[in-house]
Amino acid sequence: MNGLFVTIEGPDGAGKTSVLNELYPRLQLNAKRAIVRTREPGGVRISEKIREIILDPNYEEMDERTEALLYAAARRQHLVEVVLPALSQGKIVICDRFVDSSMAYQGAGRRIGMEGIASINDFATEKTTPDFTLYLDVDSDTGLHRIQQNRQFQPDRLEIEGLEFHQRVRHAYLKLAEENPLRIHKVDARMSLQDVVDASYSAIVEAYPTYFEE
Ligand code: TMP
Repeated sequence: MNGLFVTIEGPDGAGKTSVLNELYPRLQLNAKRAIVRTREPGGVRISEKIREIILDPNYEEMDERTEALLYAAARRQHLVEVVLPALSQGKIVICDRFVDSSMAYQGAGRRIGMEGIASINDFATEKTTPDFTLYLDVDSDTGLHRIQQNRQFQPDRLEIEGLEFHQRVRHAYLKLAEENPLRIHKVDARMSLQDVVDASYSAIVEAYPTYFEE
């Protein structure tokens, strides 16, 4: 496989979607390879169905390990149908969330623990690891405030969790970034959208100059 696997991570309210909406066209314009944008959970039929189940706030009874397994199942299907074929064709894959999300949300947020989450995800992904991860960091107060301000729709089952849940998620992300300094690049997502996009773009292009025009 000589493609490039880039993931984007962050707590709720980090502005991932807005950043990607500007970052992706810029990457696309300058990529020397075919480039694909996709997201988790979802991206393919089966995984989008699983996403509906996981995020539906009506399923109050969902057990946290069921939740973790559903994310891993959605991940597996998406990996096999989208990510691995694209990488094996030498493409650049820009994926909105991957295993780090499960480590942060289920491992820390739901308090299942990192070992269990790592092990089901090793099974699901056969240890596929991103080449590069952009982590958009935002403190939980700002993140939750943004969700409340921007929401036109009902918040999903994860977003309705309280401040402490989101703080555990953020701290886990910070720890993952500290433990994986070569793979995970942290960007301060409290900056203006344009600054976050610029910093994100430079980080990717500087890390993988051969994949992009100067
Ligand atoms: P999104 O808002 O980025 O589309 O993600 C949907 C929600 O799913 C978000 O609250 C984060 C959560 N999530 C997990 O809890 N674990 C995971 O493994 C993934 C991929 C997402």
